[in-house]
Amino acid sequence: MRTKYAVVFICVVALVIIEKESNILSRVSDKLIPRQTPQQTPQTPESDNNTGPKGSAAVLNVLLAKQPATKNNLTNFFEKKEVDETDSIKAQRNSSGRKHVLLMASTRTGSSFVGEFFNQHGETMFYLFEPLWHVERVMATAAEVNNGTILPGVYRDILQALFLCDFSPLEMFISPPPKNHVTPDLFRRESSLSLCEDPVCTTVLKDVFERYHCKIRQCGPLNLTLASESCLTKQHHAIKTVRVRQLDTLQPLVEDLRLDVTVIQLVRDPRAILASRMVAFSSKYRTWKAWAQDGQVPEDDEEVKRLKGNCDQVRISAELGLSKPHWLKGRYMLVRYEDIARYPMQKAEEMYKFTGIPFSSQARDWILRNTQTTEEASGIYSTQKNSSEQAEKWRIGIPFTLVQVVQKVCAPTMKLFGYKFVDDEKALTNKSISLLEDKQFP
Ligand SMILES: *[C@@H]1O[C@H](CO)[C@@H](O)[C@H](O)[C@H]1NC(C)=O
Ligand SMILES: *[C@@H]1O[C@H](CO)[C@@H](O)[C@H](O)[C@H]1NC(C)=O
Ligand SMILES: *[C@@H]1O[C@H](CO)[C@@H](O)[C@H](O)[C@H]1NC(C)=O
Ligand SMILES: *[C@@H]1O[C@H](CO)[C@@H](O)[C@H](O)[C@H]1NC(C)=O
Ligand SMILES: *[C@@H]1O[C@H](CO)[C@@H](O)[C@H](O)[C@H]1NC(C)=O
Ligand SMILES: *[C@@H]1O[C@H](CO)[C@@H](O)[C@H](O)[C@H]1NC(C)=O
Ligand SMILES: *[C@@H]1O[C@H](CO)[C@@H](O)[C@H](O)[C@H]1NC(C)=O
Repeated sequence: MRTKYAVVFICVVALVIIEKESNILSRVSDKLIPRQTPQQTPQTPESDNNTGPKGSAAVLNVLLAKQPATKNNLTNFFEKKEVDETDSIKAQRNSSGRKHVLLMASTRTGSSFVGEFFNQHGETMFYLFEPLWHVERVMATAAEVNNGTILPGVYRDILQALFLCDFSPLEMFISPPPKNHVTPDLFRRESSLSLCEDPVCTTVLKDVFERYHCKIRQCGPLNLTLASESCLTKQHHAIKTVRVRQLDTLQPLVEDLRLDVTVIQLVRDPRAILASRMVAFSSKYRTWKAWAQDGQVPEDDEEVKRLKGNCDQVRISAELGLSKPHWLKGRYMLVRYEDIARYPMQKAEEMYKFTGIPFSSQARDWILRNTQTTEEASGIYSTQKNSSEQAEKWRIGIPFTLVQVVQKVCAPTMKLFGYKFVDDEKALTNKSISLLEDKQFP
């Protein structure tokens, strides 16, 4: 009896979720279609058949298939000429000296921490924390239907709009829909200093605002028009995201002549990522815990395949970036979380230098305060004991059986990034054995 009720309950919940998602998707396609292809909307068979996520997704697909037309044009232009950024293209770029930083990471790689390096830059920075969260939430069902091929394009186009201070494409994914461009529901709004400082913070609910502790200032609902206006006044823009997985899908964004984009890919030892995810998302990783107890891991299990898939995606993106294709020359940087943990100040300086944004005293202060270093120890060759200790904690927590699995399925990724393999539990837990090769990524 009980299971029967449980099944009914799950079905009802599932229906409610599907209903909600398809509403949002319809909203998205309703809004996008008239804007992009007005002549086609009423007549297309897809819109007659637009009753669920699949229909909406099909509409989006059509839409996205159309969009790249002008971009392909640009792409062709680049490919034909085979020129370097340094020459004529650079002259054509018109971002008015504005730099756009995309911090591309995966979960549990320290990306929030590294994002702070830019968030804390000061008044001239407009920083957004995981804006694509809204998109992923709506598109997850559609992406499955579509074999995961449309999501990267949607992500890229929304990032492009955000870098241009246009929030309207993102707005279509915010639930419930913003009224007059005002929403109390932007994901982790308090993680962006630029969204809780004046004048974007219109109503202060609790004012204990300090420049470095934005999180304790509570603002009223966010006026996205104001956010956009503020964005336009900022000299530099940075976005952190764990949702972009394929670097190649970003080409049209990087080639947009109105932007001056730098992609910083943040990576971490996949063994540490697994250990950290098992703690952070503990119910999702229940299977892994069970395997750890059995001492047996079925290697053809979906979970293991997913781990391999994640590792491969990160590696493929890094290989592309490191191979320096013309469209990424001078615009791609690979950073290991472990190096940031060891030398936070030096790494921050390098990242800033690479993006062409001057390293600010505010950012420096924040790093000093949050890595527990002293001024003199923050020089080029210093080792940050505390943050590196934190970064190595996983070695004690993770069962060796799981380490072996990661080492097997993520071997090429680990080799590329210089993470050393261990043969036994002793080597894993002995902290005087470093698991990190010193490696420069040119
Ligand atoms: C919806 O479209 C699909 C193909 O696009 C078609 O096979 C199906 O019959 C349509 N359903 C309805 C109710 O029109
Ligand atoms: C490329 O796009 C521009 C406008 O962006 C257009 O004027 C031009 O005709 C296009 N060229 C081709 C070959 O499609
Ligand atoms: C760059 O764009 C701005 C407006 O967006 C314009 O005022 C300026 O003249 C442009 N500069 C060049 C070199 O095209
Ligand atoms: C789409 O699905 C097919 C088979 O189901 C698979 O071979 C292909 O790799 C998938 N493509 C992507 C981009 O996931
Ligand atoms: C949001 O800000 C804009 C720009 O200042 C303003 O015109 C608009 O009235 C504001 N919206 C609301 C609902 O307060
Ligand atoms: C290390 O840093 C954390 C905060 O980042 C702090 O809570 C902890 O006390 C520090 N540990 C030592 C040994 O300094
Ligand atoms: C840890 O490794 C170091 C260096 O290989 C070795 O000298 C030491 O004996 C090891 N410690 C333990 C407890 O195994």
